[in-house]
Amino acid sequence: MKIRNLEDLFVAELRDIYHAEKQLLKALPRMARASGSGELRNAFQEHLEQTQHQVERLEDVFAELDQKAKGKTCEAMEGLVAEGKDVINNAVEPDARDAGLIASAQKVEHYEIASYGCLVSWAEQLGHQRAVELLKQTLAEEKAADQKLTELAERRTNREAQQGDGQAGERPAEQPRLQQPEPGHEFNDETHAAEEEIAEREPAGAPDM
Ligand SMILES: [Fe+2]
Repeated sequence: MKIRNLEDLFVAELRDIYHAEKQLLKALPRMARASGSGELRNAFQEHLEQTQHQVERLEDVFAELDQKAKGKTCEAMEGLVAEGKDVINNAVEPDARDAGLIASAQKVEHYEIASYGCLVSWAEQLGHQRAVELLKQTLAEEKAADQKLTELAERRTNREAQQGDGQAGERPAEQPRLQQPEPGHEFNDETHAAEEEIAEREPAGAPDM
């Protein structure tokens, strides 16, 4: 769509984030299944439920504007989701994989915080008061989710430090690893599916980074 004014830009950005949120509805269950720790898995599941509400809120905003709720491909989120798959594909050690999943999720949250921050500001300028209220609720949720991920990352780091007898990153060989997938946790099948999907996306001869 042509962007002739702030109202058009507002609608274009709404379509971008609507598509981004829809991508996350698919990505979050995969990230939850790949999590080695129960608390990280719960955090992803919780955020999945929030994301469903966020999609509904965006539909309410479209309705307020008398616009049809429709998405426009969010390439940024496609890239972030692809990198998240890469972590699942390549991180074979549960602690490292969890650290990578947290990092992937925080990149997503920061993208969303930037998008919703702009949307709130533009809605205020345009006088769309109901949209301001709805978008502010989502912005607050994204900030809280980011904060939660920071706390989980810090707890992980502290556990690592204790486990390594004060030396982060070191773990005695005879000591059992933390955060093994729990019994009945269907990580392997899903991972193989994700690996195949990733393999198809990678161009032949791409450097292994
Ligand atoms: Fe979101």
